[in-house]
Amino acid sequence: MDVDGATRLPRHIAIIMDGNGRWAQQRGLLRHSGHKAGVKTVRSSVEQSVKHGIAVLTLFAFSSENWKRPQKEVSLLMDLFMVALQREVKRLKKNNVRLRVIGDRSAFSEKLQQRIAAAEADTAEGSGLVLQIAANYGGRWDITQAVRSLATKVKTGQLEPEAIDESLISSELSFNDLPDPDLFIRTGGEQRISNFMLWQSAYTELYFTDAYWPDFDADAFDRAIAFYSHRQRRFGMTAEQVGSVEK
Ligand code: FPP
Repeated sequence: MDVDGATRLPRHIAIIMDGNGRWAQQRGLLRHSGHKAGVKTVRSSVEQSVKHGIAVLTLFAFSSENWKRPQKEVSLLMDLFMVALQREVKRLKKNNVRLRVIGDRSAFSEKLQQRIAAAEADTAEGSGLVLQIAANYGGRWDITQAVRSLATKVKTGQLEPEAIDESLISSELSFNDLPDPDLFIRTGGEQRISNFMLWQSAYTELYFTDAYWPDFDADAFDRAIAFYSHRQRRFGMTAEQVGSVEK
């Protein structure tokens, strides 16, 4: 589908949803109200992705570093995930969306882990958008667990060190069966990747906006897609080479 007359769409969009706390503070509300308002933007981003036929949408919901927040906020966030997982499954199924959670889920409560597994199983038949929620995820964690797995294979004699190349490392990372992100969006004004997908975003187009996550509505989402569609991705080649490839 065209956005602003553009034709090139990202296959995979990855988002750092930042600014919930400031959105709430600006309104004299508790930070948690910002996270609750953020759930609505999650919903609209999923709807926009479905509408445009995007293959993968990854949302950074909780980073490995977010445990350092006040205990009360962490626990309210966990409650919010529980409720959202339960409430949204029906809507996701209706939209043919498959939900998947990446990250070290072993740190979550048993109940939340069960809820995640149930939501994944419930939506497993979805053949449209893949909605990936990165929870207790960190780019360095992802690379570390891949390296550990390869080292174990070397130790047990299943793998020769010389056989380790980029594609083998990629194959040990989370979501190795999905395309790397084409477009990275961060709301909330900061211009950082903050330990998101470090390996997978080597060639990702970066889009930063000052809008707080709860304000990142459907039009704002479409503007980010329009930004992407006007970029020329060169993957290390010259503009002329890319031009001849694109024709
Ligand atoms: C960052 O804003 C946001 C988070 C750490 C949590 C994101 C969670 C949601 C949007 C809720 C629901 C998500 C799902 C997938 C159901 P911040 O608190 O860092 O904002 P600030 O920088 O303004 O303080």
